[in-house]
Amino acid sequence: MKIKLSTALVMGSSRGIGRAIATKLAREGVKRIGIHYHSRRDEAEKTLALVTQAGSSGVLLQADTSDAKQARSVVEQAAEELGGCDIFVQSAVPTFEKIYEHALSTEVPLSKWQLAFDSQARAFFIAAPTAAKYMRDGGRIIALSYRAGAETGGWQPWIGMGSAKAALESMCRYLAVAMARDGITVNAVSPGAWGDKSTLFGQTPQQVQDAMNEWGRVGWNPMKRNCLPSDVANLCALLCSDEAAFVTGQSIVVDGGGSLMNPEFPLALQVPR
Ligand SMILES: NC(=O)c1ccc[n+]([C@@H]2O[C@H](COP(=O)([O-])OP(=O)(O)OC[C@H]3O[C@@H](n4cnc5c(N)ncnc54)[C@H](OP(=O)(O)O)[C@@H]3O)[C@@H](O)[C@H]2O)c1
Repeated sequence: MKIKLSTALVMGSSRGIGRAIATKLAREGVKRIGIHYHSRRDEAEKTLALVTQAGSSGVLLQADTSDAKQARSVVEQAAEELGGCDIFVQSAVPTFEKIYEHALSTEVPLSKWQLAFDSQARAFFIAAPTAAKYMRDGGRIIALSYRAGAETGGWQPWIGMGSAKAALESMCRYLAVAMARDGITVNAVSPGAWGDKSTLFGQTPQQVQDAMNEWGRVGWNPMKRNCLPSDVANLCALLCSDEAAFVTGQSIVVDGGGSLMNPEFPLALQVPR
């Protein structure tokens, strides 16, 4: 399933899931890709090498998207350098310790909550409509979310990010309606609750990683494996295809069925023998 759109900006593609998305888009035929980073230019260059290997070209763009001005200017710069912006993906997220409180804390400082909102909700509110101005008919906007944070409220130290992701998903629905007349789709994609070492998950305290890996391994994830960046990138590429032109305003979870499990039932009653 080749993608016919030719330009893409992937915010936060120096590492993790954003890198997997930029590389997948290149493999599926997107010709010019904006690779955005915050401080790790060395990592962004590795993404650029992968994009080039896949036969596409890329430009490196630096910005702190928790700053409103930069969230706009980086999109304008990308569109100018790429000659358009048919696809816009928001995958950027500040490093873990800037948002998270320690594992047992129920009090998250206002500054951390604010950074979560500035980098997720406000950045998207500014960057997505800016990108849409440079989109051809049939453009695509995708925001990386976190379903559990957006919909539930169990993981206390993540209150800022969870509520910011809820705002992000809500905005996807509003923008989907507003942009439908131009054939632009807007969707949120939520990776499974854990990823591999290259992603944000790899920055969590080791006790969190161990506990979540064990949780999946024993069967709380019916597929009994981690969500990989490539699982998320595959869905993003599908959403950028012609065939997904009628899918908009949705929050789609890529978690191997993990979110289907019922916390009120003992696991032994849910996992088939
Ligand atoms: N990994 C998971 O388990 C998981 C689960 C659910 C949802 N998600 C969501 O998936 C998305 C990608 O997560 P990930 O794990 O791939 O993250 P990641 O590996 O930590 O990568 C974060 C990216 O954001 C950039 N960044 C950091 N601070 C920034 C700032 N202030 N302004 C702009 N960009 C900044 C980084 O640039 P530098 O390299 O220059 O620092 C990097 O490109 C996020 O939206 C996250 O919330 C992830």
